[in-house]
Amino acid sequence: MSFRNAVNLSHLCVKMRVKPDDTVVDATCGNGHDTLFLAQIVTRGRVLAFDISPLAIANTAARLKEHGVSHRVELCQEDFRNLRAYVRSPVAAIMFNLGYLPGASRETATKAEHSREAVETAVNLVRPGGVVTVVCYPGHQGGAEETHEILAVTGGLSQKEFEVLKVDFLNQAHNPPLLVAVYRLEGDRA
Ligand SMILES: C[S@@+](CC[C@H](N)C(=O)[O-])C[C@H]1O[C@@H](n2cnc3c(N)ncnc32)[C@H](O)[C@@H]1O
Repeated sequence: MSFRNAVNLSHLCVKMRVKPDDTVVDATCGNGHDTLFLAQIVTRGRVLAFDISPLAIANTAARLKEHGVSHRVELCQEDFRNLRAYVRSPVAAIMFNLGYLPGASRETATKAEHSREAVETAVNLVRPGGVVTVVCYPGHQGGAEETHEILAVTGGLSQKEFEVLKVDFLNQAHNPPLLVAVYRLEGDRA
C-alpha cells in the first residue's frame, strides 16, 4: 500500500488511536469525506462535524445520508475557533483539513491566524492517548503562511505532553499537502 497523500496519512494516524465507541471531531467537514471516514470507524460512538460554509454542511449531510451513517454525526455550521463551546469532554481525535471547499470559491479558505487559534484549542481538547491531525496546503494562496503558523504552534508544544509529527512528501512537485499530527501522551510519559 502506498502512502498516497497527506489526507490518507491523517486517516492512518486517526485509525491508530480511535475505538468504535469514541467521540471524535471533524473541524472542517467540507464535502464530508473525512466525516464519513470518522463515522465509519466510530460505529458505536459519535462524530461532531464543523464547517463555516452552509454548502459544506449540506454536502456533508448528503454524503452521510447516502452511506446511512447520519445518526452518528452532529453537524454544526460553526467557526472552528469555537470548538470549545461544543466539545464538553475530551475526545479521541480532532481532524483539520485546511484550505478551501473543493468546487466552491477560494474565499472559503481557512485563514492562518484562525487555524492557529483553533489548533491551539484542539490539542487541549483531545484526551491523553488522543490525536489531532492537520492537513496543510502550502501551495495554496495564503497556504505557506498558514502552514508556517501551524508548524510554529505545534512545534512549540511541550515534549513531555505531546509527540508532534510533520510528514512531508519531499520529492513531489508543486508544494504538496503535508500532515502535522499531534499525539497527546498518556500514562507515565504525560
Ligand atoms: C479542504 S476543505 C475540507 C475538506 C473536507 N474535510 C472533506 O473531507 O471534504 C476546508 C474546509 O474548511 C472550511 N473552513 C474555512 N474556514 C473555516 C473555519 N473558520 N471554521 C470551520 N471551517 C472552516 C471551508 O468552508 C472548507 O469546507
